[in-house]
Amino acid sequence: MEYLIGIDIGTSGTMVLLLAADGRIVDTGSQAYEFEMPQNGWTEQDPALWWDAVSSIIPELLTKNQIEADSVKGVGIAGQMHSLVMLDEDNQVLRKAILWNDQRTAKQVDEINQIVGAERHIGLTSNPPLTGFTSPKILWVRENEPEIYAKCKHILLPKDYIRFKLTGEYVSDVSDASGMGLLNVKERTWSQEILEDLEIDPALLPRLVESVDISGYVTEEAAKITGLAPGTPVVGGAGDNAAAAIGVGVIKDKTGFTTIGTSGVVFVHSSKPSTDEKGRVHTFCSAVPNEWHLMGVTLSAGSSLQWFRNRFCQEEQMIADERGVDVYQVMDEMAKEVRPGSDNLIFLPYLNGERTPHLDPNARGVFFGLSPIHGKPQLIRSILEGVSFSLNDCLSILRDLNVDAETMMLTGGGAASPLWREIIANIFDCTMNTCESNQGPSLGGAILAGVGSGVFKDLDEGCSKVVKIKSSFEPENQEHYSKYYQLYKDLYPALEDQYKKLSEV
Ligand code: XUL
Repeated sequence: MEYLIGIDIGTSGTMVLLLAADGRIVDTGSQAYEFEMPQNGWTEQDPALWWDAVSSIIPELLTKNQIEADSVKGVGIAGQMHSLVMLDEDNQVLRKAILWNDQRTAKQVDEINQIVGAERHIGLTSNPPLTGFTSPKILWVRENEPEIYAKCKHILLPKDYIRFKLTGEYVSDVSDASGMGLLNVKERTWSQEILEDLEIDPALLPRLVESVDISGYVTEEAAKITGLAPGTPVVGGAGDNAAAAIGVGVIKDKTGFTTIGTSGVVFVHSSKPSTDEKGRVHTFCSAVPNEWHLMGVTLSAGSSLQWFRNRFCQEEQMIADERGVDVYQVMDEMAKEVRPGSDNLIFLPYLNGERTPHLDPNARGVFFGLSPIHGKPQLIRSILEGVSFSLNDCLSILRDLNVDAETMMLTGGGAASPLWREIIANIFDCTMNTCESNQGPSLGGAILAGVGSGVFKDLDEGCSKVVKIKSSFEPENQEHYSKYYQLYKDLYPALEDQYKKLSEV
């Protein structure tokens, strides 16, 4: 049997997945780690954590499953996007990686908008510069740590640092590079205009490949550490969302996926690089060669329900413990007894600010319409509905750009809730499927490796061998939610100024 390895360099841990050529997930291994917050709003991580994880999980997986090194035909790496890794001329890491969720770069984003021009930036890169993106982080280091910037010879993204450790190559793939703010996403090349405007030397940047292309081969040194065979091909791989799309079979127009994890993502595949002129959603290169995807991000999705559980559901936790079930199941059952609309209660899930469509760090959560008839069941249901409304805001922008999905996969922890699945299918007015494997980016990485190494003829074959639909929900009563959704949409504009004032109190 031939095998493939998919790696996901996540923010809270690294996962490695072993896939058999017949589409079976043989095993997975993971290692958790934390990120540091050296100052309010700053997030950093030592790249050594990622390499330590990879170099201990791969040999363990191969030994445990008695896999011969030369039966592993390819490796595909996925990972957290946007985070900045800098290497010196001896390939030593110069400083801890500045992560995608770091917010220190508001000033640099303003500078980029001034130098490049906000509209021109969207024209050149298909996206506005955001604090999370890589380019403002590069400017931050240049302004605040000039001695480090002067020594920097290579700029890489997290998964590309791991590729460098495995193959010695400085390469990124176009899906992950899309989130750097330096890529001409339509042309799939570095934007010379942006690099000149921002005075960033193109020699610092990695060579670009498509996600299925072979980017290099495992070196003798990396082979000794990982137990892989020297010469094993490593494909381009992809940013975490682009890789997750491959792992749930989203490779064609009219298909997409929604993730309800800590944050929520609405992702739709597109054979054209459609761009929102207002920059409210991201347009990134897809892991499918020469295609694209559009996506929006709701910052507090599953984390809104998690917040409510942690703060207010001790009683439900005890009931769940007695019944031997998950507390979310108990909460789901309570919310199911309430009618759509939560008895006229609307929740705005902006607990940590928002990204799509309201790029607003000051926004905060709201229960709108509270009355004495409301208890925990209504509050829980309104959270499920409010998060779904927020995700629907993302989908509505995509639909306005004619990037729509007839079917969507639902992934992440929230996909386990039958009620949430039903609510989202109705609010989106879209068939929502779940699939057997909820492995995310590492599975996508392994399928990409299968295509690049020739184990799979193409992505169609790889996805059809691996991705199996588990359940399907058809929308039934969208009109129940339409008046509430309209009210939901009217609330943010009414509160925008008050949010700012609140942040200044
Ligand atoms: C995508 C994004 C996150 C990160 C971290 O734009 O910010 O999905 O990739 O996982």
